[in-house]
Amino acid sequence: MTIPARKLHLVRTLTAMQPGEASPHGLRRLTRADIEALGRLFYAAYVGTVDYEGETEPEAVAVVRAAFDGDYGAFVEDASMGIERDRQLVSASLVTMWNGKPLLAFAVTAPEWKGRGLSRQCVAAAMQTLAAAGQPELHLFVTASNLPALAVYKQLGFANAGAA
Ligand SMILES: CC(C)(COP(=O)(O)OP(=O)(O)OC[C@H]1O[C@@H](n2cnc3c(N)ncnc32)[C@H](O)[C@@H]1OP(=O)(O)O)[C@@H](O)C(=O)NCCC(=O)NCCS
Repeated sequence: MTIPARKLHLVRTLTAMQPGEASPHGLRRLTRADIEALGRLFYAAYVGTVDYEGETEPEAVAVVRAAFDGDYGAFVEDASMGIERDRQLVSASLVTMWNGKPLLAFAVTAPEWKGRGLSRQCVAAAMQTLAAAGQPELHLFVTASNLPALAVYKQLGFANAGAA
């Protein structure tokens, strides 16, 4: 996978992770049956953000399908989580393998559910799963001007990979 230059590379060490809060309400693993719903969620989450480049909803579905198919590195099903409200996925975090290390490839929350801690809970659950499986780190790449994402990642303890 090629990483654009305007992306920051962040990493979170998982070795000293404490057991997390009880499983958040509505949390579950993602499966291929979620691909269409996830595509709709991705589209809604990204429209109007700094990372939106005019993709359509079908293109968003194709991105999600590609992630499950391993086009962004082997998909890590155990650590790819969603949170449901009223039986709809409203937040999700997808983990793939990158250079032999887990990568938070995507994190999204539906517009009407943003700012309620759902992405933080979703990514934290992924970190717990990876730590329990003996993975020492979780990596990610984020657009430098994506302030909401940077806020979530900072709160979760991610740091610049160059300084890690
Ligand atoms: C980035 C994104 C996933 C965050 O989802 P979210 O569910 O709103 O995030 P949370 O509510 O868990 O936020 C966690 C913390 O980040 C901070 N935060 C979140 N959004 C913020 C914003 N717009 N401005 C400032 N701080 C913000 C808050 O401090 C929050 O802490 P709190 O829970 O104590 O209030 C969401 O904005 C999104 O879907 N963006 C579009 C897709 C994207 O850019 N994904 C990331 C790159 S792949």
